Amino acid sequence: MENRSWSSQTGFVLAAAGAAVGLGNIWSFPRYTAQYGAPFLIAYALMAALAGWPLLMAELAAGRETGMGARGTFRRLTGSSLPGVVAETASLLMMGFYSVLGGCCLRYMLLSLAGVFRPVEREGLALFLGYISNVPLSALCTALFIVLAACVTAAGLRGGLERFSRFAVPLLILMLPGLILCSLRLPGAAEALGAALTASAPRTARGMLAMLGDAAAQLFFSLSLGQGVMLLYGAYLPRAASIPRCALAVTAADTLIALLAALAVVPAAGTSGGDGAMMLFVAMQQLFASLGAWGSMFGFLFYLLVFLAAITSAVSLLEVIGTFAAGASRRQAAVFAAAVAAIPAVAIARDGMGFGALPELFGLSWLDAAELLSEGILMPCAAAALIAALRRERGAELLARQLGQRAGRLCSLSLKSAGIALVAAALIARFV
Ligand code: PFF
Repeated sequence: MENRSWSSQTGFVLAAAGAAVGLGNIWSFPRYTAQYGAPFLIAYALMAALAGWPLLMAELAAGRETGMGARGTFRRLTGSSLPGVVAETASLLMMGFYSVLGGCCLRYMLLSLAGVFRPVEREGLALFLGYISNVPLSALCTALFIVLAACVTAAGLRGGLERFSRFAVPLLILMLPGLILCSLRLPGAAEALGAALTASAPRTARGMLAMLGDAAAQLFFSLSLGQGVMLLYGAYLPRAASIPRCALAVTAADTLIALLAALAVVPAAGTSGGDGAMMLFVAMQQLFASLGAWGSMFGFLFYLLVFLAAITSAVSLLEVIGTFAAGASRRQAAVFAAAVAAIPAVAIARDGMGFGALPELFGLSWLDAAELLSEGILMPCAAAALIAALRRERGAELLARQLGQRAGRLCSLSLKSAGIALVAAALIARFV
């Protein structure tokens, strides 16, 4: 897609926060918080400060230095575009499962709206299974989600992505406190939250490694690292913008929104007995349905919030996939990216999120396999390649040029220590 720039530093921060804040914040962060409790929150916050922020700075710096996306940047830095292809493949896989979940949000938004006028008859699990096993319906909602994301992408960097994020990100932040208040007033909410906050750290080395690995993978996913997105965003970043400040603002906003989302989701899902991936569409829906017309209104707002978070992220994924259509106009590139993204998305929708017709991949549903491959393997590998490239002397000079002497030195130091530890935790935890 044609290479333009963000209108301002604030415009960039909102667009990058729009890419970072997504299903990871509202779906997987609360899921891990409910699973591991306070030790996970502490590990995540430390990783975000010591490794996430520096890695984000490094990606933005490398992108701005080369003015190119993942393949171009890696070709320039390492002589090979392979790590760039790895990063972009992660984006494609992620767009596949993101679209299926985004389509599901669309469906649940409409259902909740209808529920304001007429109660939804089926209980949460039956409703969800009914939706995902109805392949034509879920494929249709998935396709609609991709088309909506492609329309924002086609409208251009400033006119589409930046303008959309300028209203979606603040709206999201405004909606969360209201949702938290509603959740906390539910019977049993305090117990559910208390249980998560007072949980103790895993007792075995293996349990600890699993938790650290999940926290590391969640950080890659949530900050959109190792997928070429932030390299590309850096390429659009004006020279005058301060990368350390922008990256700090994005890391802080993303972490804060994840914490707020956990406060909204954990008590609500806890009281209705939800766990894992079913939290969002089974436990939460069950809860909304039990609260009558107000619950449906609350449900509509909740799924709208998830939808907004998902679509700003999806637009950034299409931006990366569109870079394969070299020389095309923005509109053509958006159509191309949407068509390519539809291939894994339809396959995952066809699998019915694991309840469907397709054979398992390595014992996993297609959605879980796509998530594991992108977040647990490809993204850490691409990040490792960037760290390795920046370890050389020329890398240190690049960081100093883009971040300033002091921030460049600190970033380089963090990458060599905490950055490597983060990559190792994300990779090793998948194989224990
Ligand atoms: N950061 C997003 C989330 O937390 O849901 C996921 C994501 C979106 C990653 C867009 C990468 C990306 F380009």
